[in-house]
Amino acid sequence: MNDNDVFLDLGSGKGKVVMQVFSQTKVKAARGIEINPQLHAQALQNMPAIADRSVNFTQGDFFDIPFTDATIALIASPCFSLSMLHILGKKINETTTIHTVLSLRPIATLSRITFKKVVRVECSWDTALCYIYTV
Ligand SMILES: C[S@@+](CC[C@H](N)C(=O)[O-])C[C@H]1O[C@@H](n2cnc3c(N)ncnc32)[C@H](O)[C@@H]1O
Repeated sequence: MNDNDVFLDLGSGKGKVVMQVFSQTKVKAARGIEINPQLHAQALQNMPAIADRSVNFTQGDFFDIPFTDATIALIASPCFSLSMLHILGKKINETTTIHTVLSLRPIATLSRITFKKVVRVECSWDTALCYIYTV
């Protein structure tokens, strides 16, 4: 991730991953979309503002909200249904700014971005497989 990238967490919960990416990389922006108002409210509590870099949390359904300028998308939910993942894959295909997708489940409908590799990542509940797609 570099200073040309805009990171987007689809289902950002309390905003932990967004904040970690923002603090540990040089991305120009880190964004999250979260449907749960309580989790969204918690995410808003720790938002930094640093010069020309930004963190942004949007409360709502990621199926209804444009991904706009995102370049890297995280789909960190092993509990999203297959049909949700299929629709997300199609929406990511149409969002041509996105060059990289990180997902805890494979996404069969991704076509513009191709599967590159799978890595094992530490999660709070166990380790999980993360599927990495790039253009
Ligand atoms: C397992 S949590 C992941 C939170 C965060 N990305 C992380 O890794 O810590 C998945 C989140 O997706 C949210 N979510 C589920 N469906 C959604 C939708 N259609 N639009 C936006 N957020 C959604 C849930 O409310 C939940 O907070």
